[in-house]
Amino acid sequence: MIAVFDSGFGGLSILKGLLNKLPDYDYMYLGDNARAPYGGHSRETVTRFSEEACEFLFEKGATLIIVACNTSSAFALRHLQNKYIIDGGLKGKKNILGMVFPFSESAVKATKNGRIGLVGTKGTVKSGAYEKEIHKLMPDAKIIAQACPLLVPLIEEGWHEKPEARMILKKYLRPIKNHGIDTLILGCTHYPLMMEDFKKYMGKNVELIGDGELLAESLADYLERHPEIEKRLGREGKRVYMTTDDADKFKKMGQKFLGRDIAEALGVTI
Ligand code: DGL
Repeated sequence: MIAVFDSGFGGLSILKGLLNKLPDYDYMYLGDNARAPYGGHSRETVTRFSEEACEFLFEKGATLIIVACNTSSAFALRHLQNKYIIDGGLKGKKNILGMVFPFSESAVKATKNGRIGLVGTKGTVKSGAYEKEIHKLMPDAKIIAQACPLLVPLIEEGWHEKPEARMILKKYLRPIKNHGIDTLILGCTHYPLMMEDFKKYMGKNVELIGDGELLAESLADYLERHPEIEKRLGREGKRVYMTTDDADKFKKMGQKFLGRDIAEALGVTI
């Protein structure tokens, strides 16, 4: 099974892309809603939460875990890969993938002037993970990063279509826009819900990177290059939705992020 893990609802925007492009695989989703948001927590806390989620998902039969949460990817992915895949002897059998590499790679491919913007949670920006990855691929790239901590709660509250949310978004984006970037990474699971506003404000000359469709392309490419993992994935069209908090609320809210019905959500303890 492919497992998608996030701090809460946001990762459903990534799962949405995967279900559209790669619908035949079996998927399970875990939202750690009880402990969300992750964005303001320390590296140590996010790493501990992410370890617990991975252990839970492997126990539930995950072959491939997609860490959709950017904060978790930025703070913990390398550690998770080392602990469970390399040291845990699972190389070639299971894997854990994150957001930072595919989004950085796409940004580097897209940019013409080498000026790349990044928006995300405080944790993602503070981690420096995107800078590190982008500089590996493009040493001269200039990265202008901006944490947007108010966007996640606004989106969770369903306020993102209100003028107040647009005003806050503009305030966050203005300094980035002034730097003449031609590519912007939406380094947070929630931001695709405001994609049209990002587009409107940044203008047609700025390429936006960070939605589930792009991630799905990157995953399709990964699976083609890794048949040893691909052949272990179920293809019965199974969908399992799990949350560490209220299952009914997850079902209701989750449908907005996923853009389709969630037949059943299970409340779990990890
Ligand atoms: N999922 C988080 C991320 O992509 C955003 C929400 C949170 O802070 O937990 O960084």
